Order: sequence, then structure tokens, then C-alpha cells
Amino acid sequence: MPFGLVTAWKRRLAKSSDQNDPWKYKSLEYWQLDDRRPSAKRRQRSSVYTLKEMEEATSSFGDENLLGKGGFGRVYKGTLSSGEVVAIKKMELPSFKSAEGDREREFRVEVDILSRLEHPNLVSLIGYCADGKHRFLVYEFMQHGNLEDHLNGISEMKMDWSQRLKVALGAAKGLDYLHSGSALGIPIVHRDFKSTNILLNSSFEAKVTILG
Ligand SMILES: Nc1ncnc2c1ncn2[C@@H]1O[C@H](COP(=O)(O)OP(=O)(O)O)[C@@H](O)[C@H]1O
Ligand SMILES: [Mg+2]
Repeated sequence: MPFGLVTAWKRRLAKSSDQNDPWKYKSLEYWQLDDRRPSAKRRQRSSVYTLKEMEEATSSFGDENLLGKGGFGRVYKGTLSSGEVVAIKKMELPSFKSAEGDREREFRVEVDILSRLEHPNLVSLIGYCADGKHRFLVYEFMQHGNLEDHLNGISEMKMDWSQRLKVALGAAKGLDYLHSGSALGIPIVHRDFKSTNILLNSSFEAKVTILG
């Protein structure tokens, strides 16, 4: 057999055994993720809220509504006047006055990008508040909190293997949507993919959250 054919044959053989090896990298097509461009129901645009609405929704940011704290500030459970239950991220003021311009620019860019993204495995941005110096992001509420608490056994509920697999696949689909660039035409790199940024809804569907 000519040398070129032997190498081609060896390459093909290696490729087929790679497909059966669970530890070998496989392209996205292999996993047949069929909902990469879902026709999910879109919110027309993000709603804008006042500081008063944010205070009313969270009983003035009462500790009983505190869901957690991250790098950007505290997150509260809130109920909007429509009755919709949401998660409200209260962005902390930067410690230096000179950093205020940067924070403002980041906030605007984040709101602009987040409000254009829509996928069943991405936590949706419902709206925002920019009232005076106060900045808030309003997200869909995820009843079962973050994945880390479940993996660490903090939550009472134990996840079986099929639920864990569903969570892993859901988070992968959310990331794939960002990386494929289908929303904005350019790929978005998450840069902070971790178990506290994978949230679970009432039916344990995983959704990736971005920004903090
Ligand atoms: N949309 C949400 N629904 C329910 N809980 C949330 C939501 N967003 C954040 N949280 C909770 O608030 C915590 C803090 O969130 P965040 O500010 O994003 O910081 P981090 O990602 O470092 O935990 C999360 O770990 C999660 O438990
Ligand atoms: Mg987070």
C-alpha cells in the first residue's frame, strides 16, 4: 500500500476509535445538540425600574430576602408589582470615585449585551434600574439556587445521576449558545464559568448566569 494511503487509513482508524473513547474530545456535532438556535419566547426589551420599585420588591433589601453575595454585590429575592418573582442584583458602588466612570460603562455594556441574549439555558435579564447612583440588574428567579450548594450537600435535596447529567448538558448548551455567537454574531466568552454561576429552576433545569 502506498505510504500516503497507509497514513490516511491509520488516521481514519484512529478517528473511529476516538469516537468510542469517552475521554477523547468530540466536536459539537457529535453530541447532536439540536436546540442551538431555539425559538424561545423573547422579551421585547428589558424593563426599566425605579429605586422605589426595587425597594418595594425586596422589603427595602431585608435580610430575609437575601439570596447570596458575589463579586458585584448582594442578590435579593424580589416580587415586582406585577406579582412576578425575580432576583435583584444590587451593584455595589466602586470604592474609588475615579472608578465610577468605568463601572457605568461596564453596566451599560452588560445591560446591552445581556438583554439581547435569549436561551432556555441562560438566566434571562428581565430589566434594570439606573436611578441616581444606584444600579440594579433584575433577573429571572431560580428557585433551587446555585449548583455549588447542591454539590456541597448544603441543600437538603440530593441530585441523582440523571439529574446531574441533565444539569451538565444544560450548562453545556448555555455555553455553546454563547460561544457559537448565534445571538450577536460574535462569540461571547464567559470567563467566570463556575458552579455558583449555574443556577437551577423549580424543575432542576440548569441555566448559566453571566455577570457576577
Ligand atoms: N437569578 C437568581 N436566582 C436565584 N438565586 C440567584 C440568582 N442569581 C444569583 N443568585 C444567588 O446569589 C448568589 C450570589 O450571586 P452572584 O452575585 O452572581 O455571585 P457568585 O456567582 O459569585 O455566587 C448565587 O450564588 C446564587 O445563590
Ligand atoms: Mg454569579
